[in-house]
Amino acid sequence: MDMQVIPARSENYNLKDYQKVRENFKWDDVNKHFAWNETGKVNIAYEALDRHAENPAKKDKVALLYSAPDREEQLTFSDLSKQSNKFANVLKKHQVNKGDRVFLFMPRSPEFYAAFFGILKTGAIAGPLFEAFMEQAVRDRLQDSEASVLITTPELIERVPQDELPQLETVILVGEAGVAHTYIDYHTEMAGASEAFDIEWVDLEDGMLLHYTSGSTGKPKGVYHVHNAMIQHYATGEWVLDLKEDDVYWCTADPGWVTGTSYGIFAPWLHGVTNVIRGGRFTPDDWYETLEKNKITVWYTAPTALRMLVSHGEEALKKYDLLELRHIMSVGEPLNPEVVTWGLKAFNLRIHDTWWMTETGAQLIVNLPALEIRPGSMGKPIPGIVASIVDNEGNELPPNQMGNLAIKEGWPSMMRQIWNNPGKYESYFINGWYVSGDSAYRDEDGYFWFQGRLDDVINTSGERVGPFEVESKLIEHPAVAEAGVIGKPHPERGEIIKAFISLNEGYEKSDELLEEIRQFVKTGLSAHAAPREIEIRDSIPKTRSGKIMRRLLKSWELGLPTGDTSTLEE
Ligand code: WT7
Repeated sequence: MDMQVIPARSENYNLKDYQKVRENFKWDDVNKHFAWNETGKVNIAYEALDRHAENPAKKDKVALLYSAPDREEQLTFSDLSKQSNKFANVLKKHQVNKGDRVFLFMPRSPEFYAAFFGILKTGAIAGPLFEAFMEQAVRDRLQDSEASVLITTPELIERVPQDELPQLETVILVGEAGVAHTYIDYHTEMAGASEAFDIEWVDLEDGMLLHYTSGSTGKPKGVYHVHNAMIQHYATGEWVLDLKEDDVYWCTADPGWVTGTSYGIFAPWLHGVTNVIRGGRFTPDDWYETLEKNKITVWYTAPTALRMLVSHGEEALKKYDLLELRHIMSVGEPLNPEVVTWGLKAFNLRIHDTWWMTETGAQLIVNLPALEIRPGSMGKPIPGIVASIVDNEGNELPPNQMGNLAIKEGWPSMMRQIWNNPGKYESYFINGWYVSGDSAYRDEDGYFWFQGRLDDVINTSGERVGPFEVESKLIEHPAVAEAGVIGKPHPERGEIIKAFISLNEGYEKSDELLEEIRQFVKTGLSAHAAPREIEIRDSIPKTRSGKIMRRLLKSWELGLPTGDTSTLEE
């Protein structure tokens, strides 16, 4: 089969000479773009907002272009800088100090961004939570992080079990809630707060962000990032996002996930670029409308969204004028070659796949504007990154051989800890390599090709779900005796969640019961973690040590040979 290759385009892109830059590159070369390189004073919030607000040529430029169905707002760099100063003062009044964890559980809104940067300006660590989380997901994360302050909304506070969170001293509410809750009012506090704030200068290695993410075992883990990550946010903003002064940029990810912070917040604002924020879930027409109305030039989205657009048809697209759009990227799950081909036809643009993880903090393997695209490949490592395929002992494998996708330790945006869990952190590393959990191979020309996850982590519509969390929730339901959860391939969502359960005595299989169990997970954990399919079995296969054999469940589901079952319990 001839490999289809899409040549680099001729426009004036950043990082035109990938090979040459890569050969001589040192991360320190990026330092010159930051004020701290001269002043010695570090804070990512200063570099992303205040620096532009202090620049007469930049301060009145629109930083945040907010557009939701019921609200439109524009905030300049100066506005956002002042708003976040006010919020930082509110936090100080409530005794927030450097290193404290301050969480946000709210939809995207101008208040979210002011609060987010207010947190960073105090030197505290921000923990954004995805708005679809239900009570247990919220409780697990607030307990593990021992957050002392939470900012939330009247709708979402119902899912915050305040009486089970002794560490949570202050809840700040954007709106009004009933008497059942103890909180202070965001707007009242902000009205009384000063617009001036002495930012807390920190060390590059001080904490700034906690993102919880799922593995195949245990509760979600807190991935801890430090201010130093800005170096890579900036560099990839230039090379991969290809940001230029006049761009209007849109990243569709929610800041509850790492794409929504690294690339929905930091990369564009470190570059002083206008950033479109659009709340809520959208239909294809909403996507096209947002692109057209805001004259978006650079767009970072996900395969799930693109597949939805593909299935919506090209006629729908013809109604919109998207001529300003010049650069598209994708992340989160495999980008199907057909979608890349569709993109060429529909937008007359290449869609650039990018690979990275919550733990890596920023992009690592990417398709660059200046490189040819091989549809189906994640591309090549950015300058400063050494990527390889290794075996289970950390030895490098030759081209075209499948193995663990691994990165040589030590890049600016790498997580620095798993919160409260040093053993977990250590377990990522073998022989000087960070081992990703993905399997892949590298072709002779250095392009990387994703093959799948090596663990049981499920990727549904680009969202990472740990089977253990879903299984634990399922067995809380009185009807469920045992549960095993796997990802089942799905054309639009990548994977869907499928649960195998056995029932306790006295319960009979019925459609109503299955629906009730599904709802139980949906309302207890979160909508994206609820199994779309549930199958009842007499028992769930386990090893003799009692571990659910998800691999076997998956083989059954896919009609594959079951392989070695010697450890299967009688
Ligand atoms: C996992 C990380 C930070 C990006 C958002 C997801 C999968 C990510 C790709 C890609 C195939 C991909 C991997 C990875 N993934 N990008 N371009 N092609 N798979 O971050 O939730 O931490 O998930 O997403 O399996 O390990 P995350």
